[in-house]
Amino acid sequence: MKVAVLGAAGGIGQALALLLKLNLPAGSKLALYDIAPVTPGVAKDISHIPTDVEATGFAGEDPSPALEGADVVLISAGVARKPGMDRSDLFNINAGIIRNLTAKVAAVAPTACIGIITNPVNTTVAIAAEVLKEAGVYDKNKLFGVTTLDVIRSETFIAEAKGLNVADVKLNVIGGHSGVTILPLLSQVKGVEFSAEEIASLTHRIQNAGTEVVEAKAGGGSATLSMAQAACRFGLAVVRGLQGEQGVIECAYVEGAGEHARFFAQPIELGTAGVKAILPYGGLSAFEQDALTGMLETLKGDIHIGEEFVK
Ligand SMILES: NC(=O)c1ccc[n+]([C@@H]2O[C@H](COP(=O)([O-])OP(=O)(O)OC[C@H]3O[C@@H](n4cnc5c(N)ncnc54)[C@H](O)[C@@H]3O)[C@@H](O)[C@H]2O)c1
Repeated sequence: MKVAVLGAAGGIGQALALLLKLNLPAGSKLALYDIAPVTPGVAKDISHIPTDVEATGFAGEDPSPALEGADVVLISAGVARKPGMDRSDLFNINAGIIRNLTAKVAAVAPTACIGIITNPVNTTVAIAAEVLKEAGVYDKNKLFGVTTLDVIRSETFIAEAKGLNVADVKLNVIGGHSGVTILPLLSQVKGVEFSAEEIASLTHRIQNAGTEVVEAKAGGGSATLSMAQAACRFGLAVVRGLQGEQGVIECAYVEGAGEHARFFAQPIELGTAGVKAILPYGGLSAFEQDALTGMLETLKGDIHIGEEFVK
């Protein structure tokens, strides 16, 4: 397997590179790319860690050498939030970066699975899809918005709030990846009851957890280390699926049947060609049904902005 990380010199990118160096299957290749000149040095640095994963690094204007032969491309290139910004404020800069990088992936690694981390994910995934479509290589089973951070935050916060072992907390987080579009399905957590207040406050905390980090970092950026762990978990799941492992399931923001919106975060099974199946997300409580109905205009609007940007 060859995994490429674009944006590899950034806060997420460096931590993600480290985690992939430690956790990719033996014999894998890890290619790091960023416009920042430090990138070959980041690859050199992690290459001294004794695992059987070959790390190479490329800087400059052209990501092609990192992309050649890539099976999985994880993109965290772009700018991150500062206090007072929401994810849509990042659109003006990040939209162009995702358009240009996806065009390069389309040209150099057209069959790769692509995981988009760069915000606003609700919109950047739509941009990537349109660019791949224009290039004639779009496969909806191979494009993912990485929403795993919403899942790991939910697992952590629920375990904390209810005194559970975090390893036992499992739930789907559906919708999108910003504000009200993030919908953790608390009603599906086994073995616990939540009061109406707990549901409202936990849902609100999960939806705004990114802002908690942005404010705590006080101008120093947004979530990087937890995001890197989330992206590593997701990237490894894609790799395991590609290698033929059965029963690999994660939530991700993908183009499905379009029941709610063209792109929707939902549980998927990963296989040898990307998405093997879109899985049912299960029953919803009345609170969750209302939240789902209430988010759709926002989510569809975010997707539309991405589609229009490319047109
Ligand atoms: N999906 C999520 O859950 C999630 C969570 C946190 C952050 N993010 C997003 O991830 C992105 C990166 O965050 P970060 O904290 O790592 O930011 P960062 O500023 O630390 O790193 C971004 C990196 O991108 C690089 N870059 C910029 N333009 C590039 C280009 N054209 N080609 C290649 N590299 C380029 C920069 O040089 C920098 O190294 C942001 O958009 C942020 O909002 C997403």
